[in-house]
Amino acid sequence: MKNYTSISDIDDLEGIIREARSLKVKNPESRVGTGKTLGMLFFNPSLRTRLSTEKAAKLLGMEVMVMNVGTDGWALEFEDGAVMNSDKAEHVREAAAVLSQYCDIIAVRAFPGLKDREKDESEQVLNSFKKYASVPVVNLESATGHPLQALADAITIQENNMVKRPKVVLSWAPHPKALPQSVANSFVEMMQRLEVDLVITNPEGYDLAPNIRKDTKVEHDQEKAFEDADFVYVKNWSSYENYGQVLNVQKNWTVDQAKLKNSNNAKVMHCLPVRRNVVIADDVLDSENSIVIQQANNRTFAAQVVLKRILECTK
Ligand code: CP
Repeated sequence: MKNYTSISDIDDLEGIIREARSLKVKNPESRVGTGKTLGMLFFNPSLRTRLSTEKAAKLLGMEVMVMNVGTDGWALEFEDGAVMNSDKAEHVREAAAVLSQYCDIIAVRAFPGLKDREKDESEQVLNSFKKYASVPVVNLESATGHPLQALADAITIQENNMVKRPKVVLSWAPHPKALPQSVANSFVEMMQRLEVDLVITNPEGYDLAPNIRKDTKVEHDQEKAFEDADFVYVKNWSSYENYGQVLNVQKNWTVDQAKLKNSNNAKVMHCLPVRRNVVIADDVLDSENSIVIQQANNRTFAAQVVLKRILECTK
């Protein structure tokens, strides 16, 4: 694996999930990351991604450097040919080249602005680092995807699956703020590659991008979608159609136990952080059906297998 910026960088999905699960059981004695450095750049806040990726790198023997670029770094210019006479002090061309001398892998978190769909879909920040860095780049959640989260989600579903072909439902849920579609996008792309029956449920106006949905079934009746579900993955996202908007939804889409009554005793997932009793009710999060903590734990092993494969590829 040369980079990990989207799940299309995984060529043997079953193999990588198997390896992540074996890393969870037992860490290898030889540490492929010894003498190597991971540099992590955060343009936005994080708890799980930052700490699980740092832990993963250290389990491989790597040194880790973290920078909150959004608050601590020079404001970066990403436009080629820009006349930099305003607030941007450094161009990504120099920043990425310099970081490539300090780090063996660069990992970047940069959320979308949710104002300009075309600009967000160009993945300017992530792709600029990919273009100007001379070392591999890892996506810690970008404008349109969160592939490390999706790999952890796939591991978690495999660990908990009891049936041959589970029904997996991705459910939109309310949130007071406009959130990216990144987690939902990568989850859908991941599930489309696994042996599952995937259904997406969301209110009218919240359909994900056509190139993400492809032929995945979209059901606008949430409780109908939950019938016989083995896994319910709850997540908010802002509208794609009315790009970045929070629309007025009349029905209550918060996921609670009553809504899950016709599921197949569904396990409930969420990438976290989750707003209790807005996105998911206490009676679900505090029940045995919630696997959100196990899911967050798997972030470490998803990151570990990705970093390990990149290091093995660049040896
Ligand atoms: N799920 C996730 O990416 O969590 P953080 O935003 O805390 O990193």
